[in-house]
Amino acid sequence: MSVQMKNGGIPPKISGNFYGKDFIEISQLNKEDVYKIFEQAEEIREAYDSGSISDLKVNARAAILFFQNSTRTYSSFNRACQILGLDVFAEHGMSAFSLAMKGEFLRRTIQSIYQTQMLTAGDVIIMRHPDTNSSHIAASAVDASIVNAGSGSLRHPTQALLDLYTIWKDIKNLNNIELIFMGDLKFGRTVKSLGSLISMVGKNIKINLVSPDICSLPDKLREEWEEAGVKTTQTTDVLYVTRLQQEWFEKSNMMNEYNKIKADYIIDYELIKKAKNNTLLMHPLPSNGEMEDPKLDEYAGARYLNQMKNGTLVRSALIRQITKK
Ligand code: MLT
Repeated sequence: MSVQMKNGGIPPKISGNFYGKDFIEISQLNKEDVYKIFEQAEEIREAYDSGSISDLKVNARAAILFFQNSTRTYSSFNRACQILGLDVFAEHGMSAFSLAMKGEFLRRTIQSIYQTQMLTAGDVIIMRHPDTNSSHIAASAVDASIVNAGSGSLRHPTQALLDLYTIWKDIKNLNNIELIFMGDLKFGRTVKSLGSLISMVGKNIKINLVSPDICSLPDKLREEWEEAGVKTTQTTDVLYVTRLQQEWFEKSNMMNEYNKIKADYIIDYELIKKAKNNTLLMHPLPSNGEMEDPKLDEYAGARYLNQMKNGTLVRSALIRQITKK
């Protein structure tokens, strides 16, 4: 439960039971938890397609609080909550709220929404925030379950779930997978969560890390993945591209470096068609020019559009597990 997490402590393991818990980082999950979400997502897809979503309804409330921009994750969580019939308060511009403007501590902001929305344990607060520990802080402030919709440049656990679900839809055996992570591996959070997730779920995983030098994956994370058995490779089943995270370069006073490398890698149809047969092409989007070729949509392995619908399904599954007794 949220109350177990005081002072930014370690969030509790899910261990087969999501109900009433926070979901903040990949390390809370085991393999069975991940497959539970995938199976639930499949059930929701079937119910949705057959018009029987009324069976999925859950009696709970949700607050969706975004302190950072988002199109896909925000609309995906909104839709997920609607599918489950949750009573939703959603605010995309939290950083412009007077509370945040006045420098109020995040803890108080979260407590305020919890009170005004009359939330209780069993309800859910879905939150995106530029600080890495934001979800931990929120979890220690209220009894509702906190779901991390992206925190800092380190964590995006629900994106990792939807990414792995998208891969699993094509490649059922998640052992012996080879991936390329390409782009901004320093500031981008999606590859970090996906790497941690796949190194926990799959055996004999190979990841090739392709990035400009100044955007390379932090050593600590690479070492963690290597300890979990991940190796590097030159070929790939999955090419997962990310954009350079301009906003983090700005924040780190690194715009000169950004301008030098911003046009360094572009994936277009001519390039991708040379890839190994059936290579899946993924991107969490948005793209900042590295994957704009409209012809890419014709590539048989293109999965970046599927990722978005899968995101709504996976998030519906997760929220249902957390809110349904
Ligand atoms: C994120 O929130 O990290 C996005 O989904 C991916 C991005 O911003 O590049």
